[in-house]
Amino acid sequence: MTPEGPMTFEGMPATTVVPKPRELSARPGATTLSRSTLVSSDGPCAGVARLLAGELEGATGWPVDARLADARGAAAGSPESNRVHIALSTGLEPEEYRLVVHDGGVTIAGGSPAGAFYGTRTLLQLLPADLLRAAPAGSVEGVRLAGVEITDGPRFAWRGIGLDVARHFMPKSFLLRLVDLAAFHKLNVLHLHLTDDQGWRFQVDAYPRLTEVGAWRRESPLGHYRDHLADGVPHGGFYTKQDLREVVSYAARRFVTVLPEIDMPGHMQAAIAAYPELGNTGEPLEVFTNWGISDHVLNMQDATLRFCTDVLEELMEVFPGRYVHIGGDECPTTEWEASRPARRRAQTEGLASAADLQGWFTARMAAVLKERGRTLVAWDEVLDAGAPEGALIAVWRAEHATRAAIEAARTGHDVVMAPETFAYLDWAHTDGPEEPVAIRPALSVERVYSFEAVPVDLEAGYHNRVVGAQCQLWTEYVHTPAHAEYMYFPRACAFAETVWSQAGRDWAAFEPRLSRHLSRLAAKGVNYRPLTGPTPGQARTWLPPAGS
Ligand code: ACM
Repeated sequence: MTPEGPMTFEGMPATTVVPKPRELSARPGATTLSRSTLVSSDGPCAGVARLLAGELEGATGWPVDARLADARGAAAGSPESNRVHIALSTGLEPEEYRLVVHDGGVTIAGGSPAGAFYGTRTLLQLLPADLLRAAPAGSVEGVRLAGVEITDGPRFAWRGIGLDVARHFMPKSFLLRLVDLAAFHKLNVLHLHLTDDQGWRFQVDAYPRLTEVGAWRRESPLGHYRDHLADGVPHGGFYTKQDLREVVSYAARRFVTVLPEIDMPGHMQAAIAAYPELGNTGEPLEVFTNWGISDHVLNMQDATLRFCTDVLEELMEVFPGRYVHIGGDECPTTEWEASRPARRRAQTEGLASAADLQGWFTARMAAVLKERGRTLVAWDEVLDAGAPEGALIAVWRAEHATRAAIEAARTGHDVVMAPETFAYLDWAHTDGPEEPVAIRPALSVERVYSFEAVPVDLEAGYHNRVVGAQCQLWTEYVHTPAHAEYMYFPRACAFAETVWSQAGRDWAAFEPRLSRHLSRLAAKGVNYRPLTGPTPGQARTWLPPAGS
């Protein structure tokens, strides 16, 4: 767009859409969206139509109305030439859509409103990238879209993106933005890691000290934790229930489910700092100021189980989705082994040792959730004790990923793959010295793109147990939303294609598409890492002092 005067712009070719649609063919005809464009819909798609109309209006400055169409698809006052019409259609799976650009405009058919919504995400990518801005950056007369027919739908039902808001608190505004960016790439689960040793971010009415005390830490490591330096700077923050309800409903409108995680019974030092009676030693603790795994875990007494139940009940008030993640990863058992009450608990429960308390605890939490109609999600460590029936297993540990996925699937569990060697976006993009400090080298966008969620050794009969995958951003070394965007993008774009698009990927074909897609991220103001490497402003600026 130029400041000189209104112009008509060409849309982006459909071949640049990310993630790649299943079927795409050019067809004769074209349409030009313009000031007279309106978005019409049937009743079930009215919300999707209103959202799109608002986005088009924002980008172009045209007054774009959303109207209900009659049973024949006609909308009062609509020009027949450049309308966007959105409606349900039979013969499509719920998340599938068909988008046709024809002489009369654009038609989006969805198997459900979710499918229709994905059609609108594709339509946004057919616009010139400059029209992905929140407000017009110039005067736009029209947008010419070439004739095309796209039939599309996801490979996996669970397409997740995870954010650790415990190690570094991320403002609510970033959660809303991440929902937008996730939905733009047709991801549908936002997993929030709400609690850890280093911070508790979920307001709980029954236990106010969780956020009064547990949300704040005195300082954090400076540089890499192996440098053994501290920054001396307090850090923290938390979300009120209203904040999170807002995120949940904002996400729901974009067909994203927010999956909350309260990590238990390990990764609990922040809670024990708030309520020492939850711990095994009674010693006063502070919120953990180092990275890594604290040895301080929950005790296994009745009052602590009541605490966990109360917290989950308050969590379920805010998060209506079927799934509730209780973590369950990396739980040291040294305190239980040293604790007389823990050993006694193990004995009365008929367990061979105190180390077996985690499996017992997980089963109790699964029952709490099941009674309330929810399904437990936990990391793959819970398989060690035999995971509760019906639990969904999130697989992360590299060396165990295939084995864990196979074991979980064969024992009747649904599986979400998040293997660290492909999906942990807290790893540096490369092992080059220009990369900002990160937990580990190196996970390139090309490697993320090569991710295959279904382990090759899993028998075909169990493939449907792999319901999808997630990419994860742990934030020990990610202090700000801008840096989070740097770590996510463009790797999350590549990841999205691995879970949405059909199997079989070709990096050589993807790279130029991704390159064009970056112009969309640029218009949205995303602090993505250029394919050629970090900009000077993104590159590493901190090195440990010599000799430290
Ligand atoms: C994990 O990375 N501990 C799930």
